[in-house]
Amino acid sequence: MPDKQSTIGDLPPAILALEPGAAFADRVAAILGAERVPVEERVFEDGEVKVRALAELRARHAVIVQSLDGGKNGAVHDRLCRTLLLAGSLKDAGVARLSCVAPYLAYARKDRRTKPWDPLSLRYVAQMLEAVGVETMMALEVHDLAAFENAFRIPTVPLDTHRLFATRLAPELEQEDVVVVAPDPGGLKRAQLFQELLERELDRPLRRAVADKRRSAGVVTGEQLYGEVEGCRPVIIDDLVSSGGTLARASAALVAAGAKPAIVAVAHGVFSAEARDTLDTADIEKLLVTDSIDPPRLDADALSSLEVVSCAELVAGAIACLESGGSITALSGA
Ligand code: R5P
Repeated sequence: MPDKQSTIGDLPPAILALEPGAAFADRVAAILGAERVPVEERVFEDGEVKVRALAELRARHAVIVQSLDGGKNGAVHDRLCRTLLLAGSLKDAGVARLSCVAPYLAYARKDRRTKPWDPLSLRYVAQMLEAVGVETMMALEVHDLAAFENAFRIPTVPLDTHRLFATRLAPELEQEDVVVVAPDPGGLKRAQLFQELLERELDRPLRRAVADKRRSAGVVTGEQLYGEVEGCRPVIIDDLVSSGGTLARASAALVAAGAKPAIVAVAHGVFSAEARDTLDTADIEKLLVTDSIDPPRLDADALSSLEVVSCAELVAGAIACLESGGSITALSGA
């Protein structure tokens, strides 16, 4: 863990978060030895809210640790709006530096036009966060790294889960003939980077494969699998699981091609309503997700293959690096 001492005065950064979800921020704050500053969230009769920090933070480095998922109610815009209000109020209260850490960043997938007149939603989210004074934006395992970095004008800090998952999985993969799998062509670069790290962990070359997938108007097609997988243990790597359809299709294609049931490592457990049933019947031996979405949208005991690996230490380490100027790259996969 890098030096945790603040460069702004002698105090560590002040951590702030909204409910529900402050438990994750508490874990991060505890690792940093920092305080989580309480936040008042008051709802008025017309549905408007007031959000304010309940402490003097003038001249401090304020870090909002807030996943921008919709929670169990799908209230993603409510959480985004409250985060914007909190950020603006902190800036107006005179903080010296304002950082936002969104382990799960809403709209990260909507980073380009796929139909005429489509919105570039990620860019608009970036503009809103910048407009209220956020100066550094950190996010975990974004859908597309280049799109994330280009959507923001302020400095961005992308974190990946490669080291987290490679360290967790390496011991049980020692005796396996491993093939690292991208569940769709868009995930090939992620799979390549994860493969390279896992090869270093296991000290041997591994195979790589990719499943085909095309999505149009919500309909997914594409059955092909590219790569040699027969007799191998597939490790599928992806940014998120929502309906579970992508993972179910990829794992079925792998088993049909002679592979063993897959081990899956996915950063964000978005888990839409049908996910549990889809994943329960899929050819998946183990499904690792992080606690980037917390409270979880699917309880670990609802799905026997599910295991949660905390990313709190990774996030805390990255915040400490922001403070000390240490290398964030070394924390993740590069
Ligand atoms: C898409 O490109 C993403 O990387 C994920 O593969 C996708 O969003 C997962 O969604 P679902 O679980 O609904 O198939």
